Amino acid sequence: LNFQGVFLFGLYFFFFFLFSHLEVVIKAEHFSPWKGEQQMYKLDIGWPKTPEHFTGQTFCVAVDSVHGLVYVGQRGDNVPKVLVFSKEGYFLHSWNDTVEMPHGIFVWNTETGSSVWITDVGTGKYGHTVKQYSPLGKLLQVLGTPGNAGSSLIPLQFDQPAEIFVEETGEVYVVDGDGGMNNRLLKLSDDYKEIWLTGTNGSGIGQFKIPHSVTVDAFGRVWVADRGNKRIQVFDKVTGEWLGSWSGCFLEDGPYSVRFTADYKYLIVAQLNINRLAILAAPPVGSIGDCVIVHSVQLADETKPHLIDVDMKSGAVYVAEIGAQQVQKYVPLS
Ligand SMILES: *[C@@H]1O[C@H](CO)[C@@H](O)[C@H](O)[C@H]1NC(C)=O
Ligand SMILES: *[C@@H]1O[C@H](CO)[C@@H](O)[C@H](O)[C@H]1NC(C)=O
Repeated sequence: LNFQGVFLFGLYFFFFFLFSHLEVVIKAEHFSPWKGEQQMYKLDIGWPKTPEHFTGQTFCVAVDSVHGLVYVGQRGDNVPKVLVFSKEGYFLHSWNDTVEMPHGIFVWNTETGSSVWITDVGTGKYGHTVKQYSPLGKLLQVLGTPGNAGSSLIPLQFDQPAEIFVEETGEVYVVDGDGGMNNRLLKLSDDYKEIWLTGTNGSGIGQFKIPHSVTVDAFGRVWVADRGNKRIQVFDKVTGEWLGSWSGCFLEDGPYSVRFTADYKYLIVAQLNINRLAILAAPPVGSIGDCVIVHSVQLADETKPHLIDVDMKSGAVYVAEIGAQQVQKYVPLS
């Protein structure tokens, strides 16, 4: 073996390793879930059957998975404010009595029946309230001081309440609000008395700037989309104690919604300005650690997904899109 031979031998191995490693890098990138190779959801283009019922700005959607119903809240002049569809997509009925500007909507099921809770950010005589309706639209309960925005002093005086979550036990969580004076998370008992209240205007730990969406997981934690601070904050549902925060995944755009998948393995977060649903790994019991986006669903430009809901039976995800003025249904692929 002469010098030239050794040199060529070395060169050969140099390129061999270079290319074999390059290939690994390219393959890893190609098969990464970030690239959308393994989609989690498929758009159901047949839902609803009659999209012409979307006559306003569709701000919110709630699924009654027990009865197979989907409630949509929309805003606008001379339009019905609440539309009711079947999960198959048939339009059933609508109502607008006492609803001004729906922001968030939630279906509460108990053994005796279901009801629909709506947060109303209107400024008229029914505004600044959180209201409970029968499935046909009969007003059952009003929380807040109708027509009067909160002063940040009285717990049950809301200022643009953004969303509500009601547990099976009847305990209520309200995020208040969508840009008003109050920036807080409130827990009420099943007879609507304050259990705890947390949060003030700001960006420190436990403070909020537009607490926009709220949900409770199966492990005793309350999740809040702290939209203006571009983070999600998590609290103990019994004590209201702060448990952690996720911000690294929302640098581009703040979280607008928080909803878990039916198996509580993932958190689905709508990001309105980048027209995306980010799907994050939901941490098991205890500390929430750092956030990881495992999948995403990219929606068309100007769709503006605002709030979403998940059918906890079928796993279908419904997305209320303000820009596209429609609600779309995504079904899990598995
Ligand atoms: C209520 O809805 C009906 C259509 O269902 C519409 O004609 C009416 O103008 C609406 N009222 C309000 C106050 O939006
Ligand atoms: C919240 O605080 C910021 C300053 O950090 C201020 O600009 C804003 O007006 C405050 N908002 C309310 C509703 O008080």
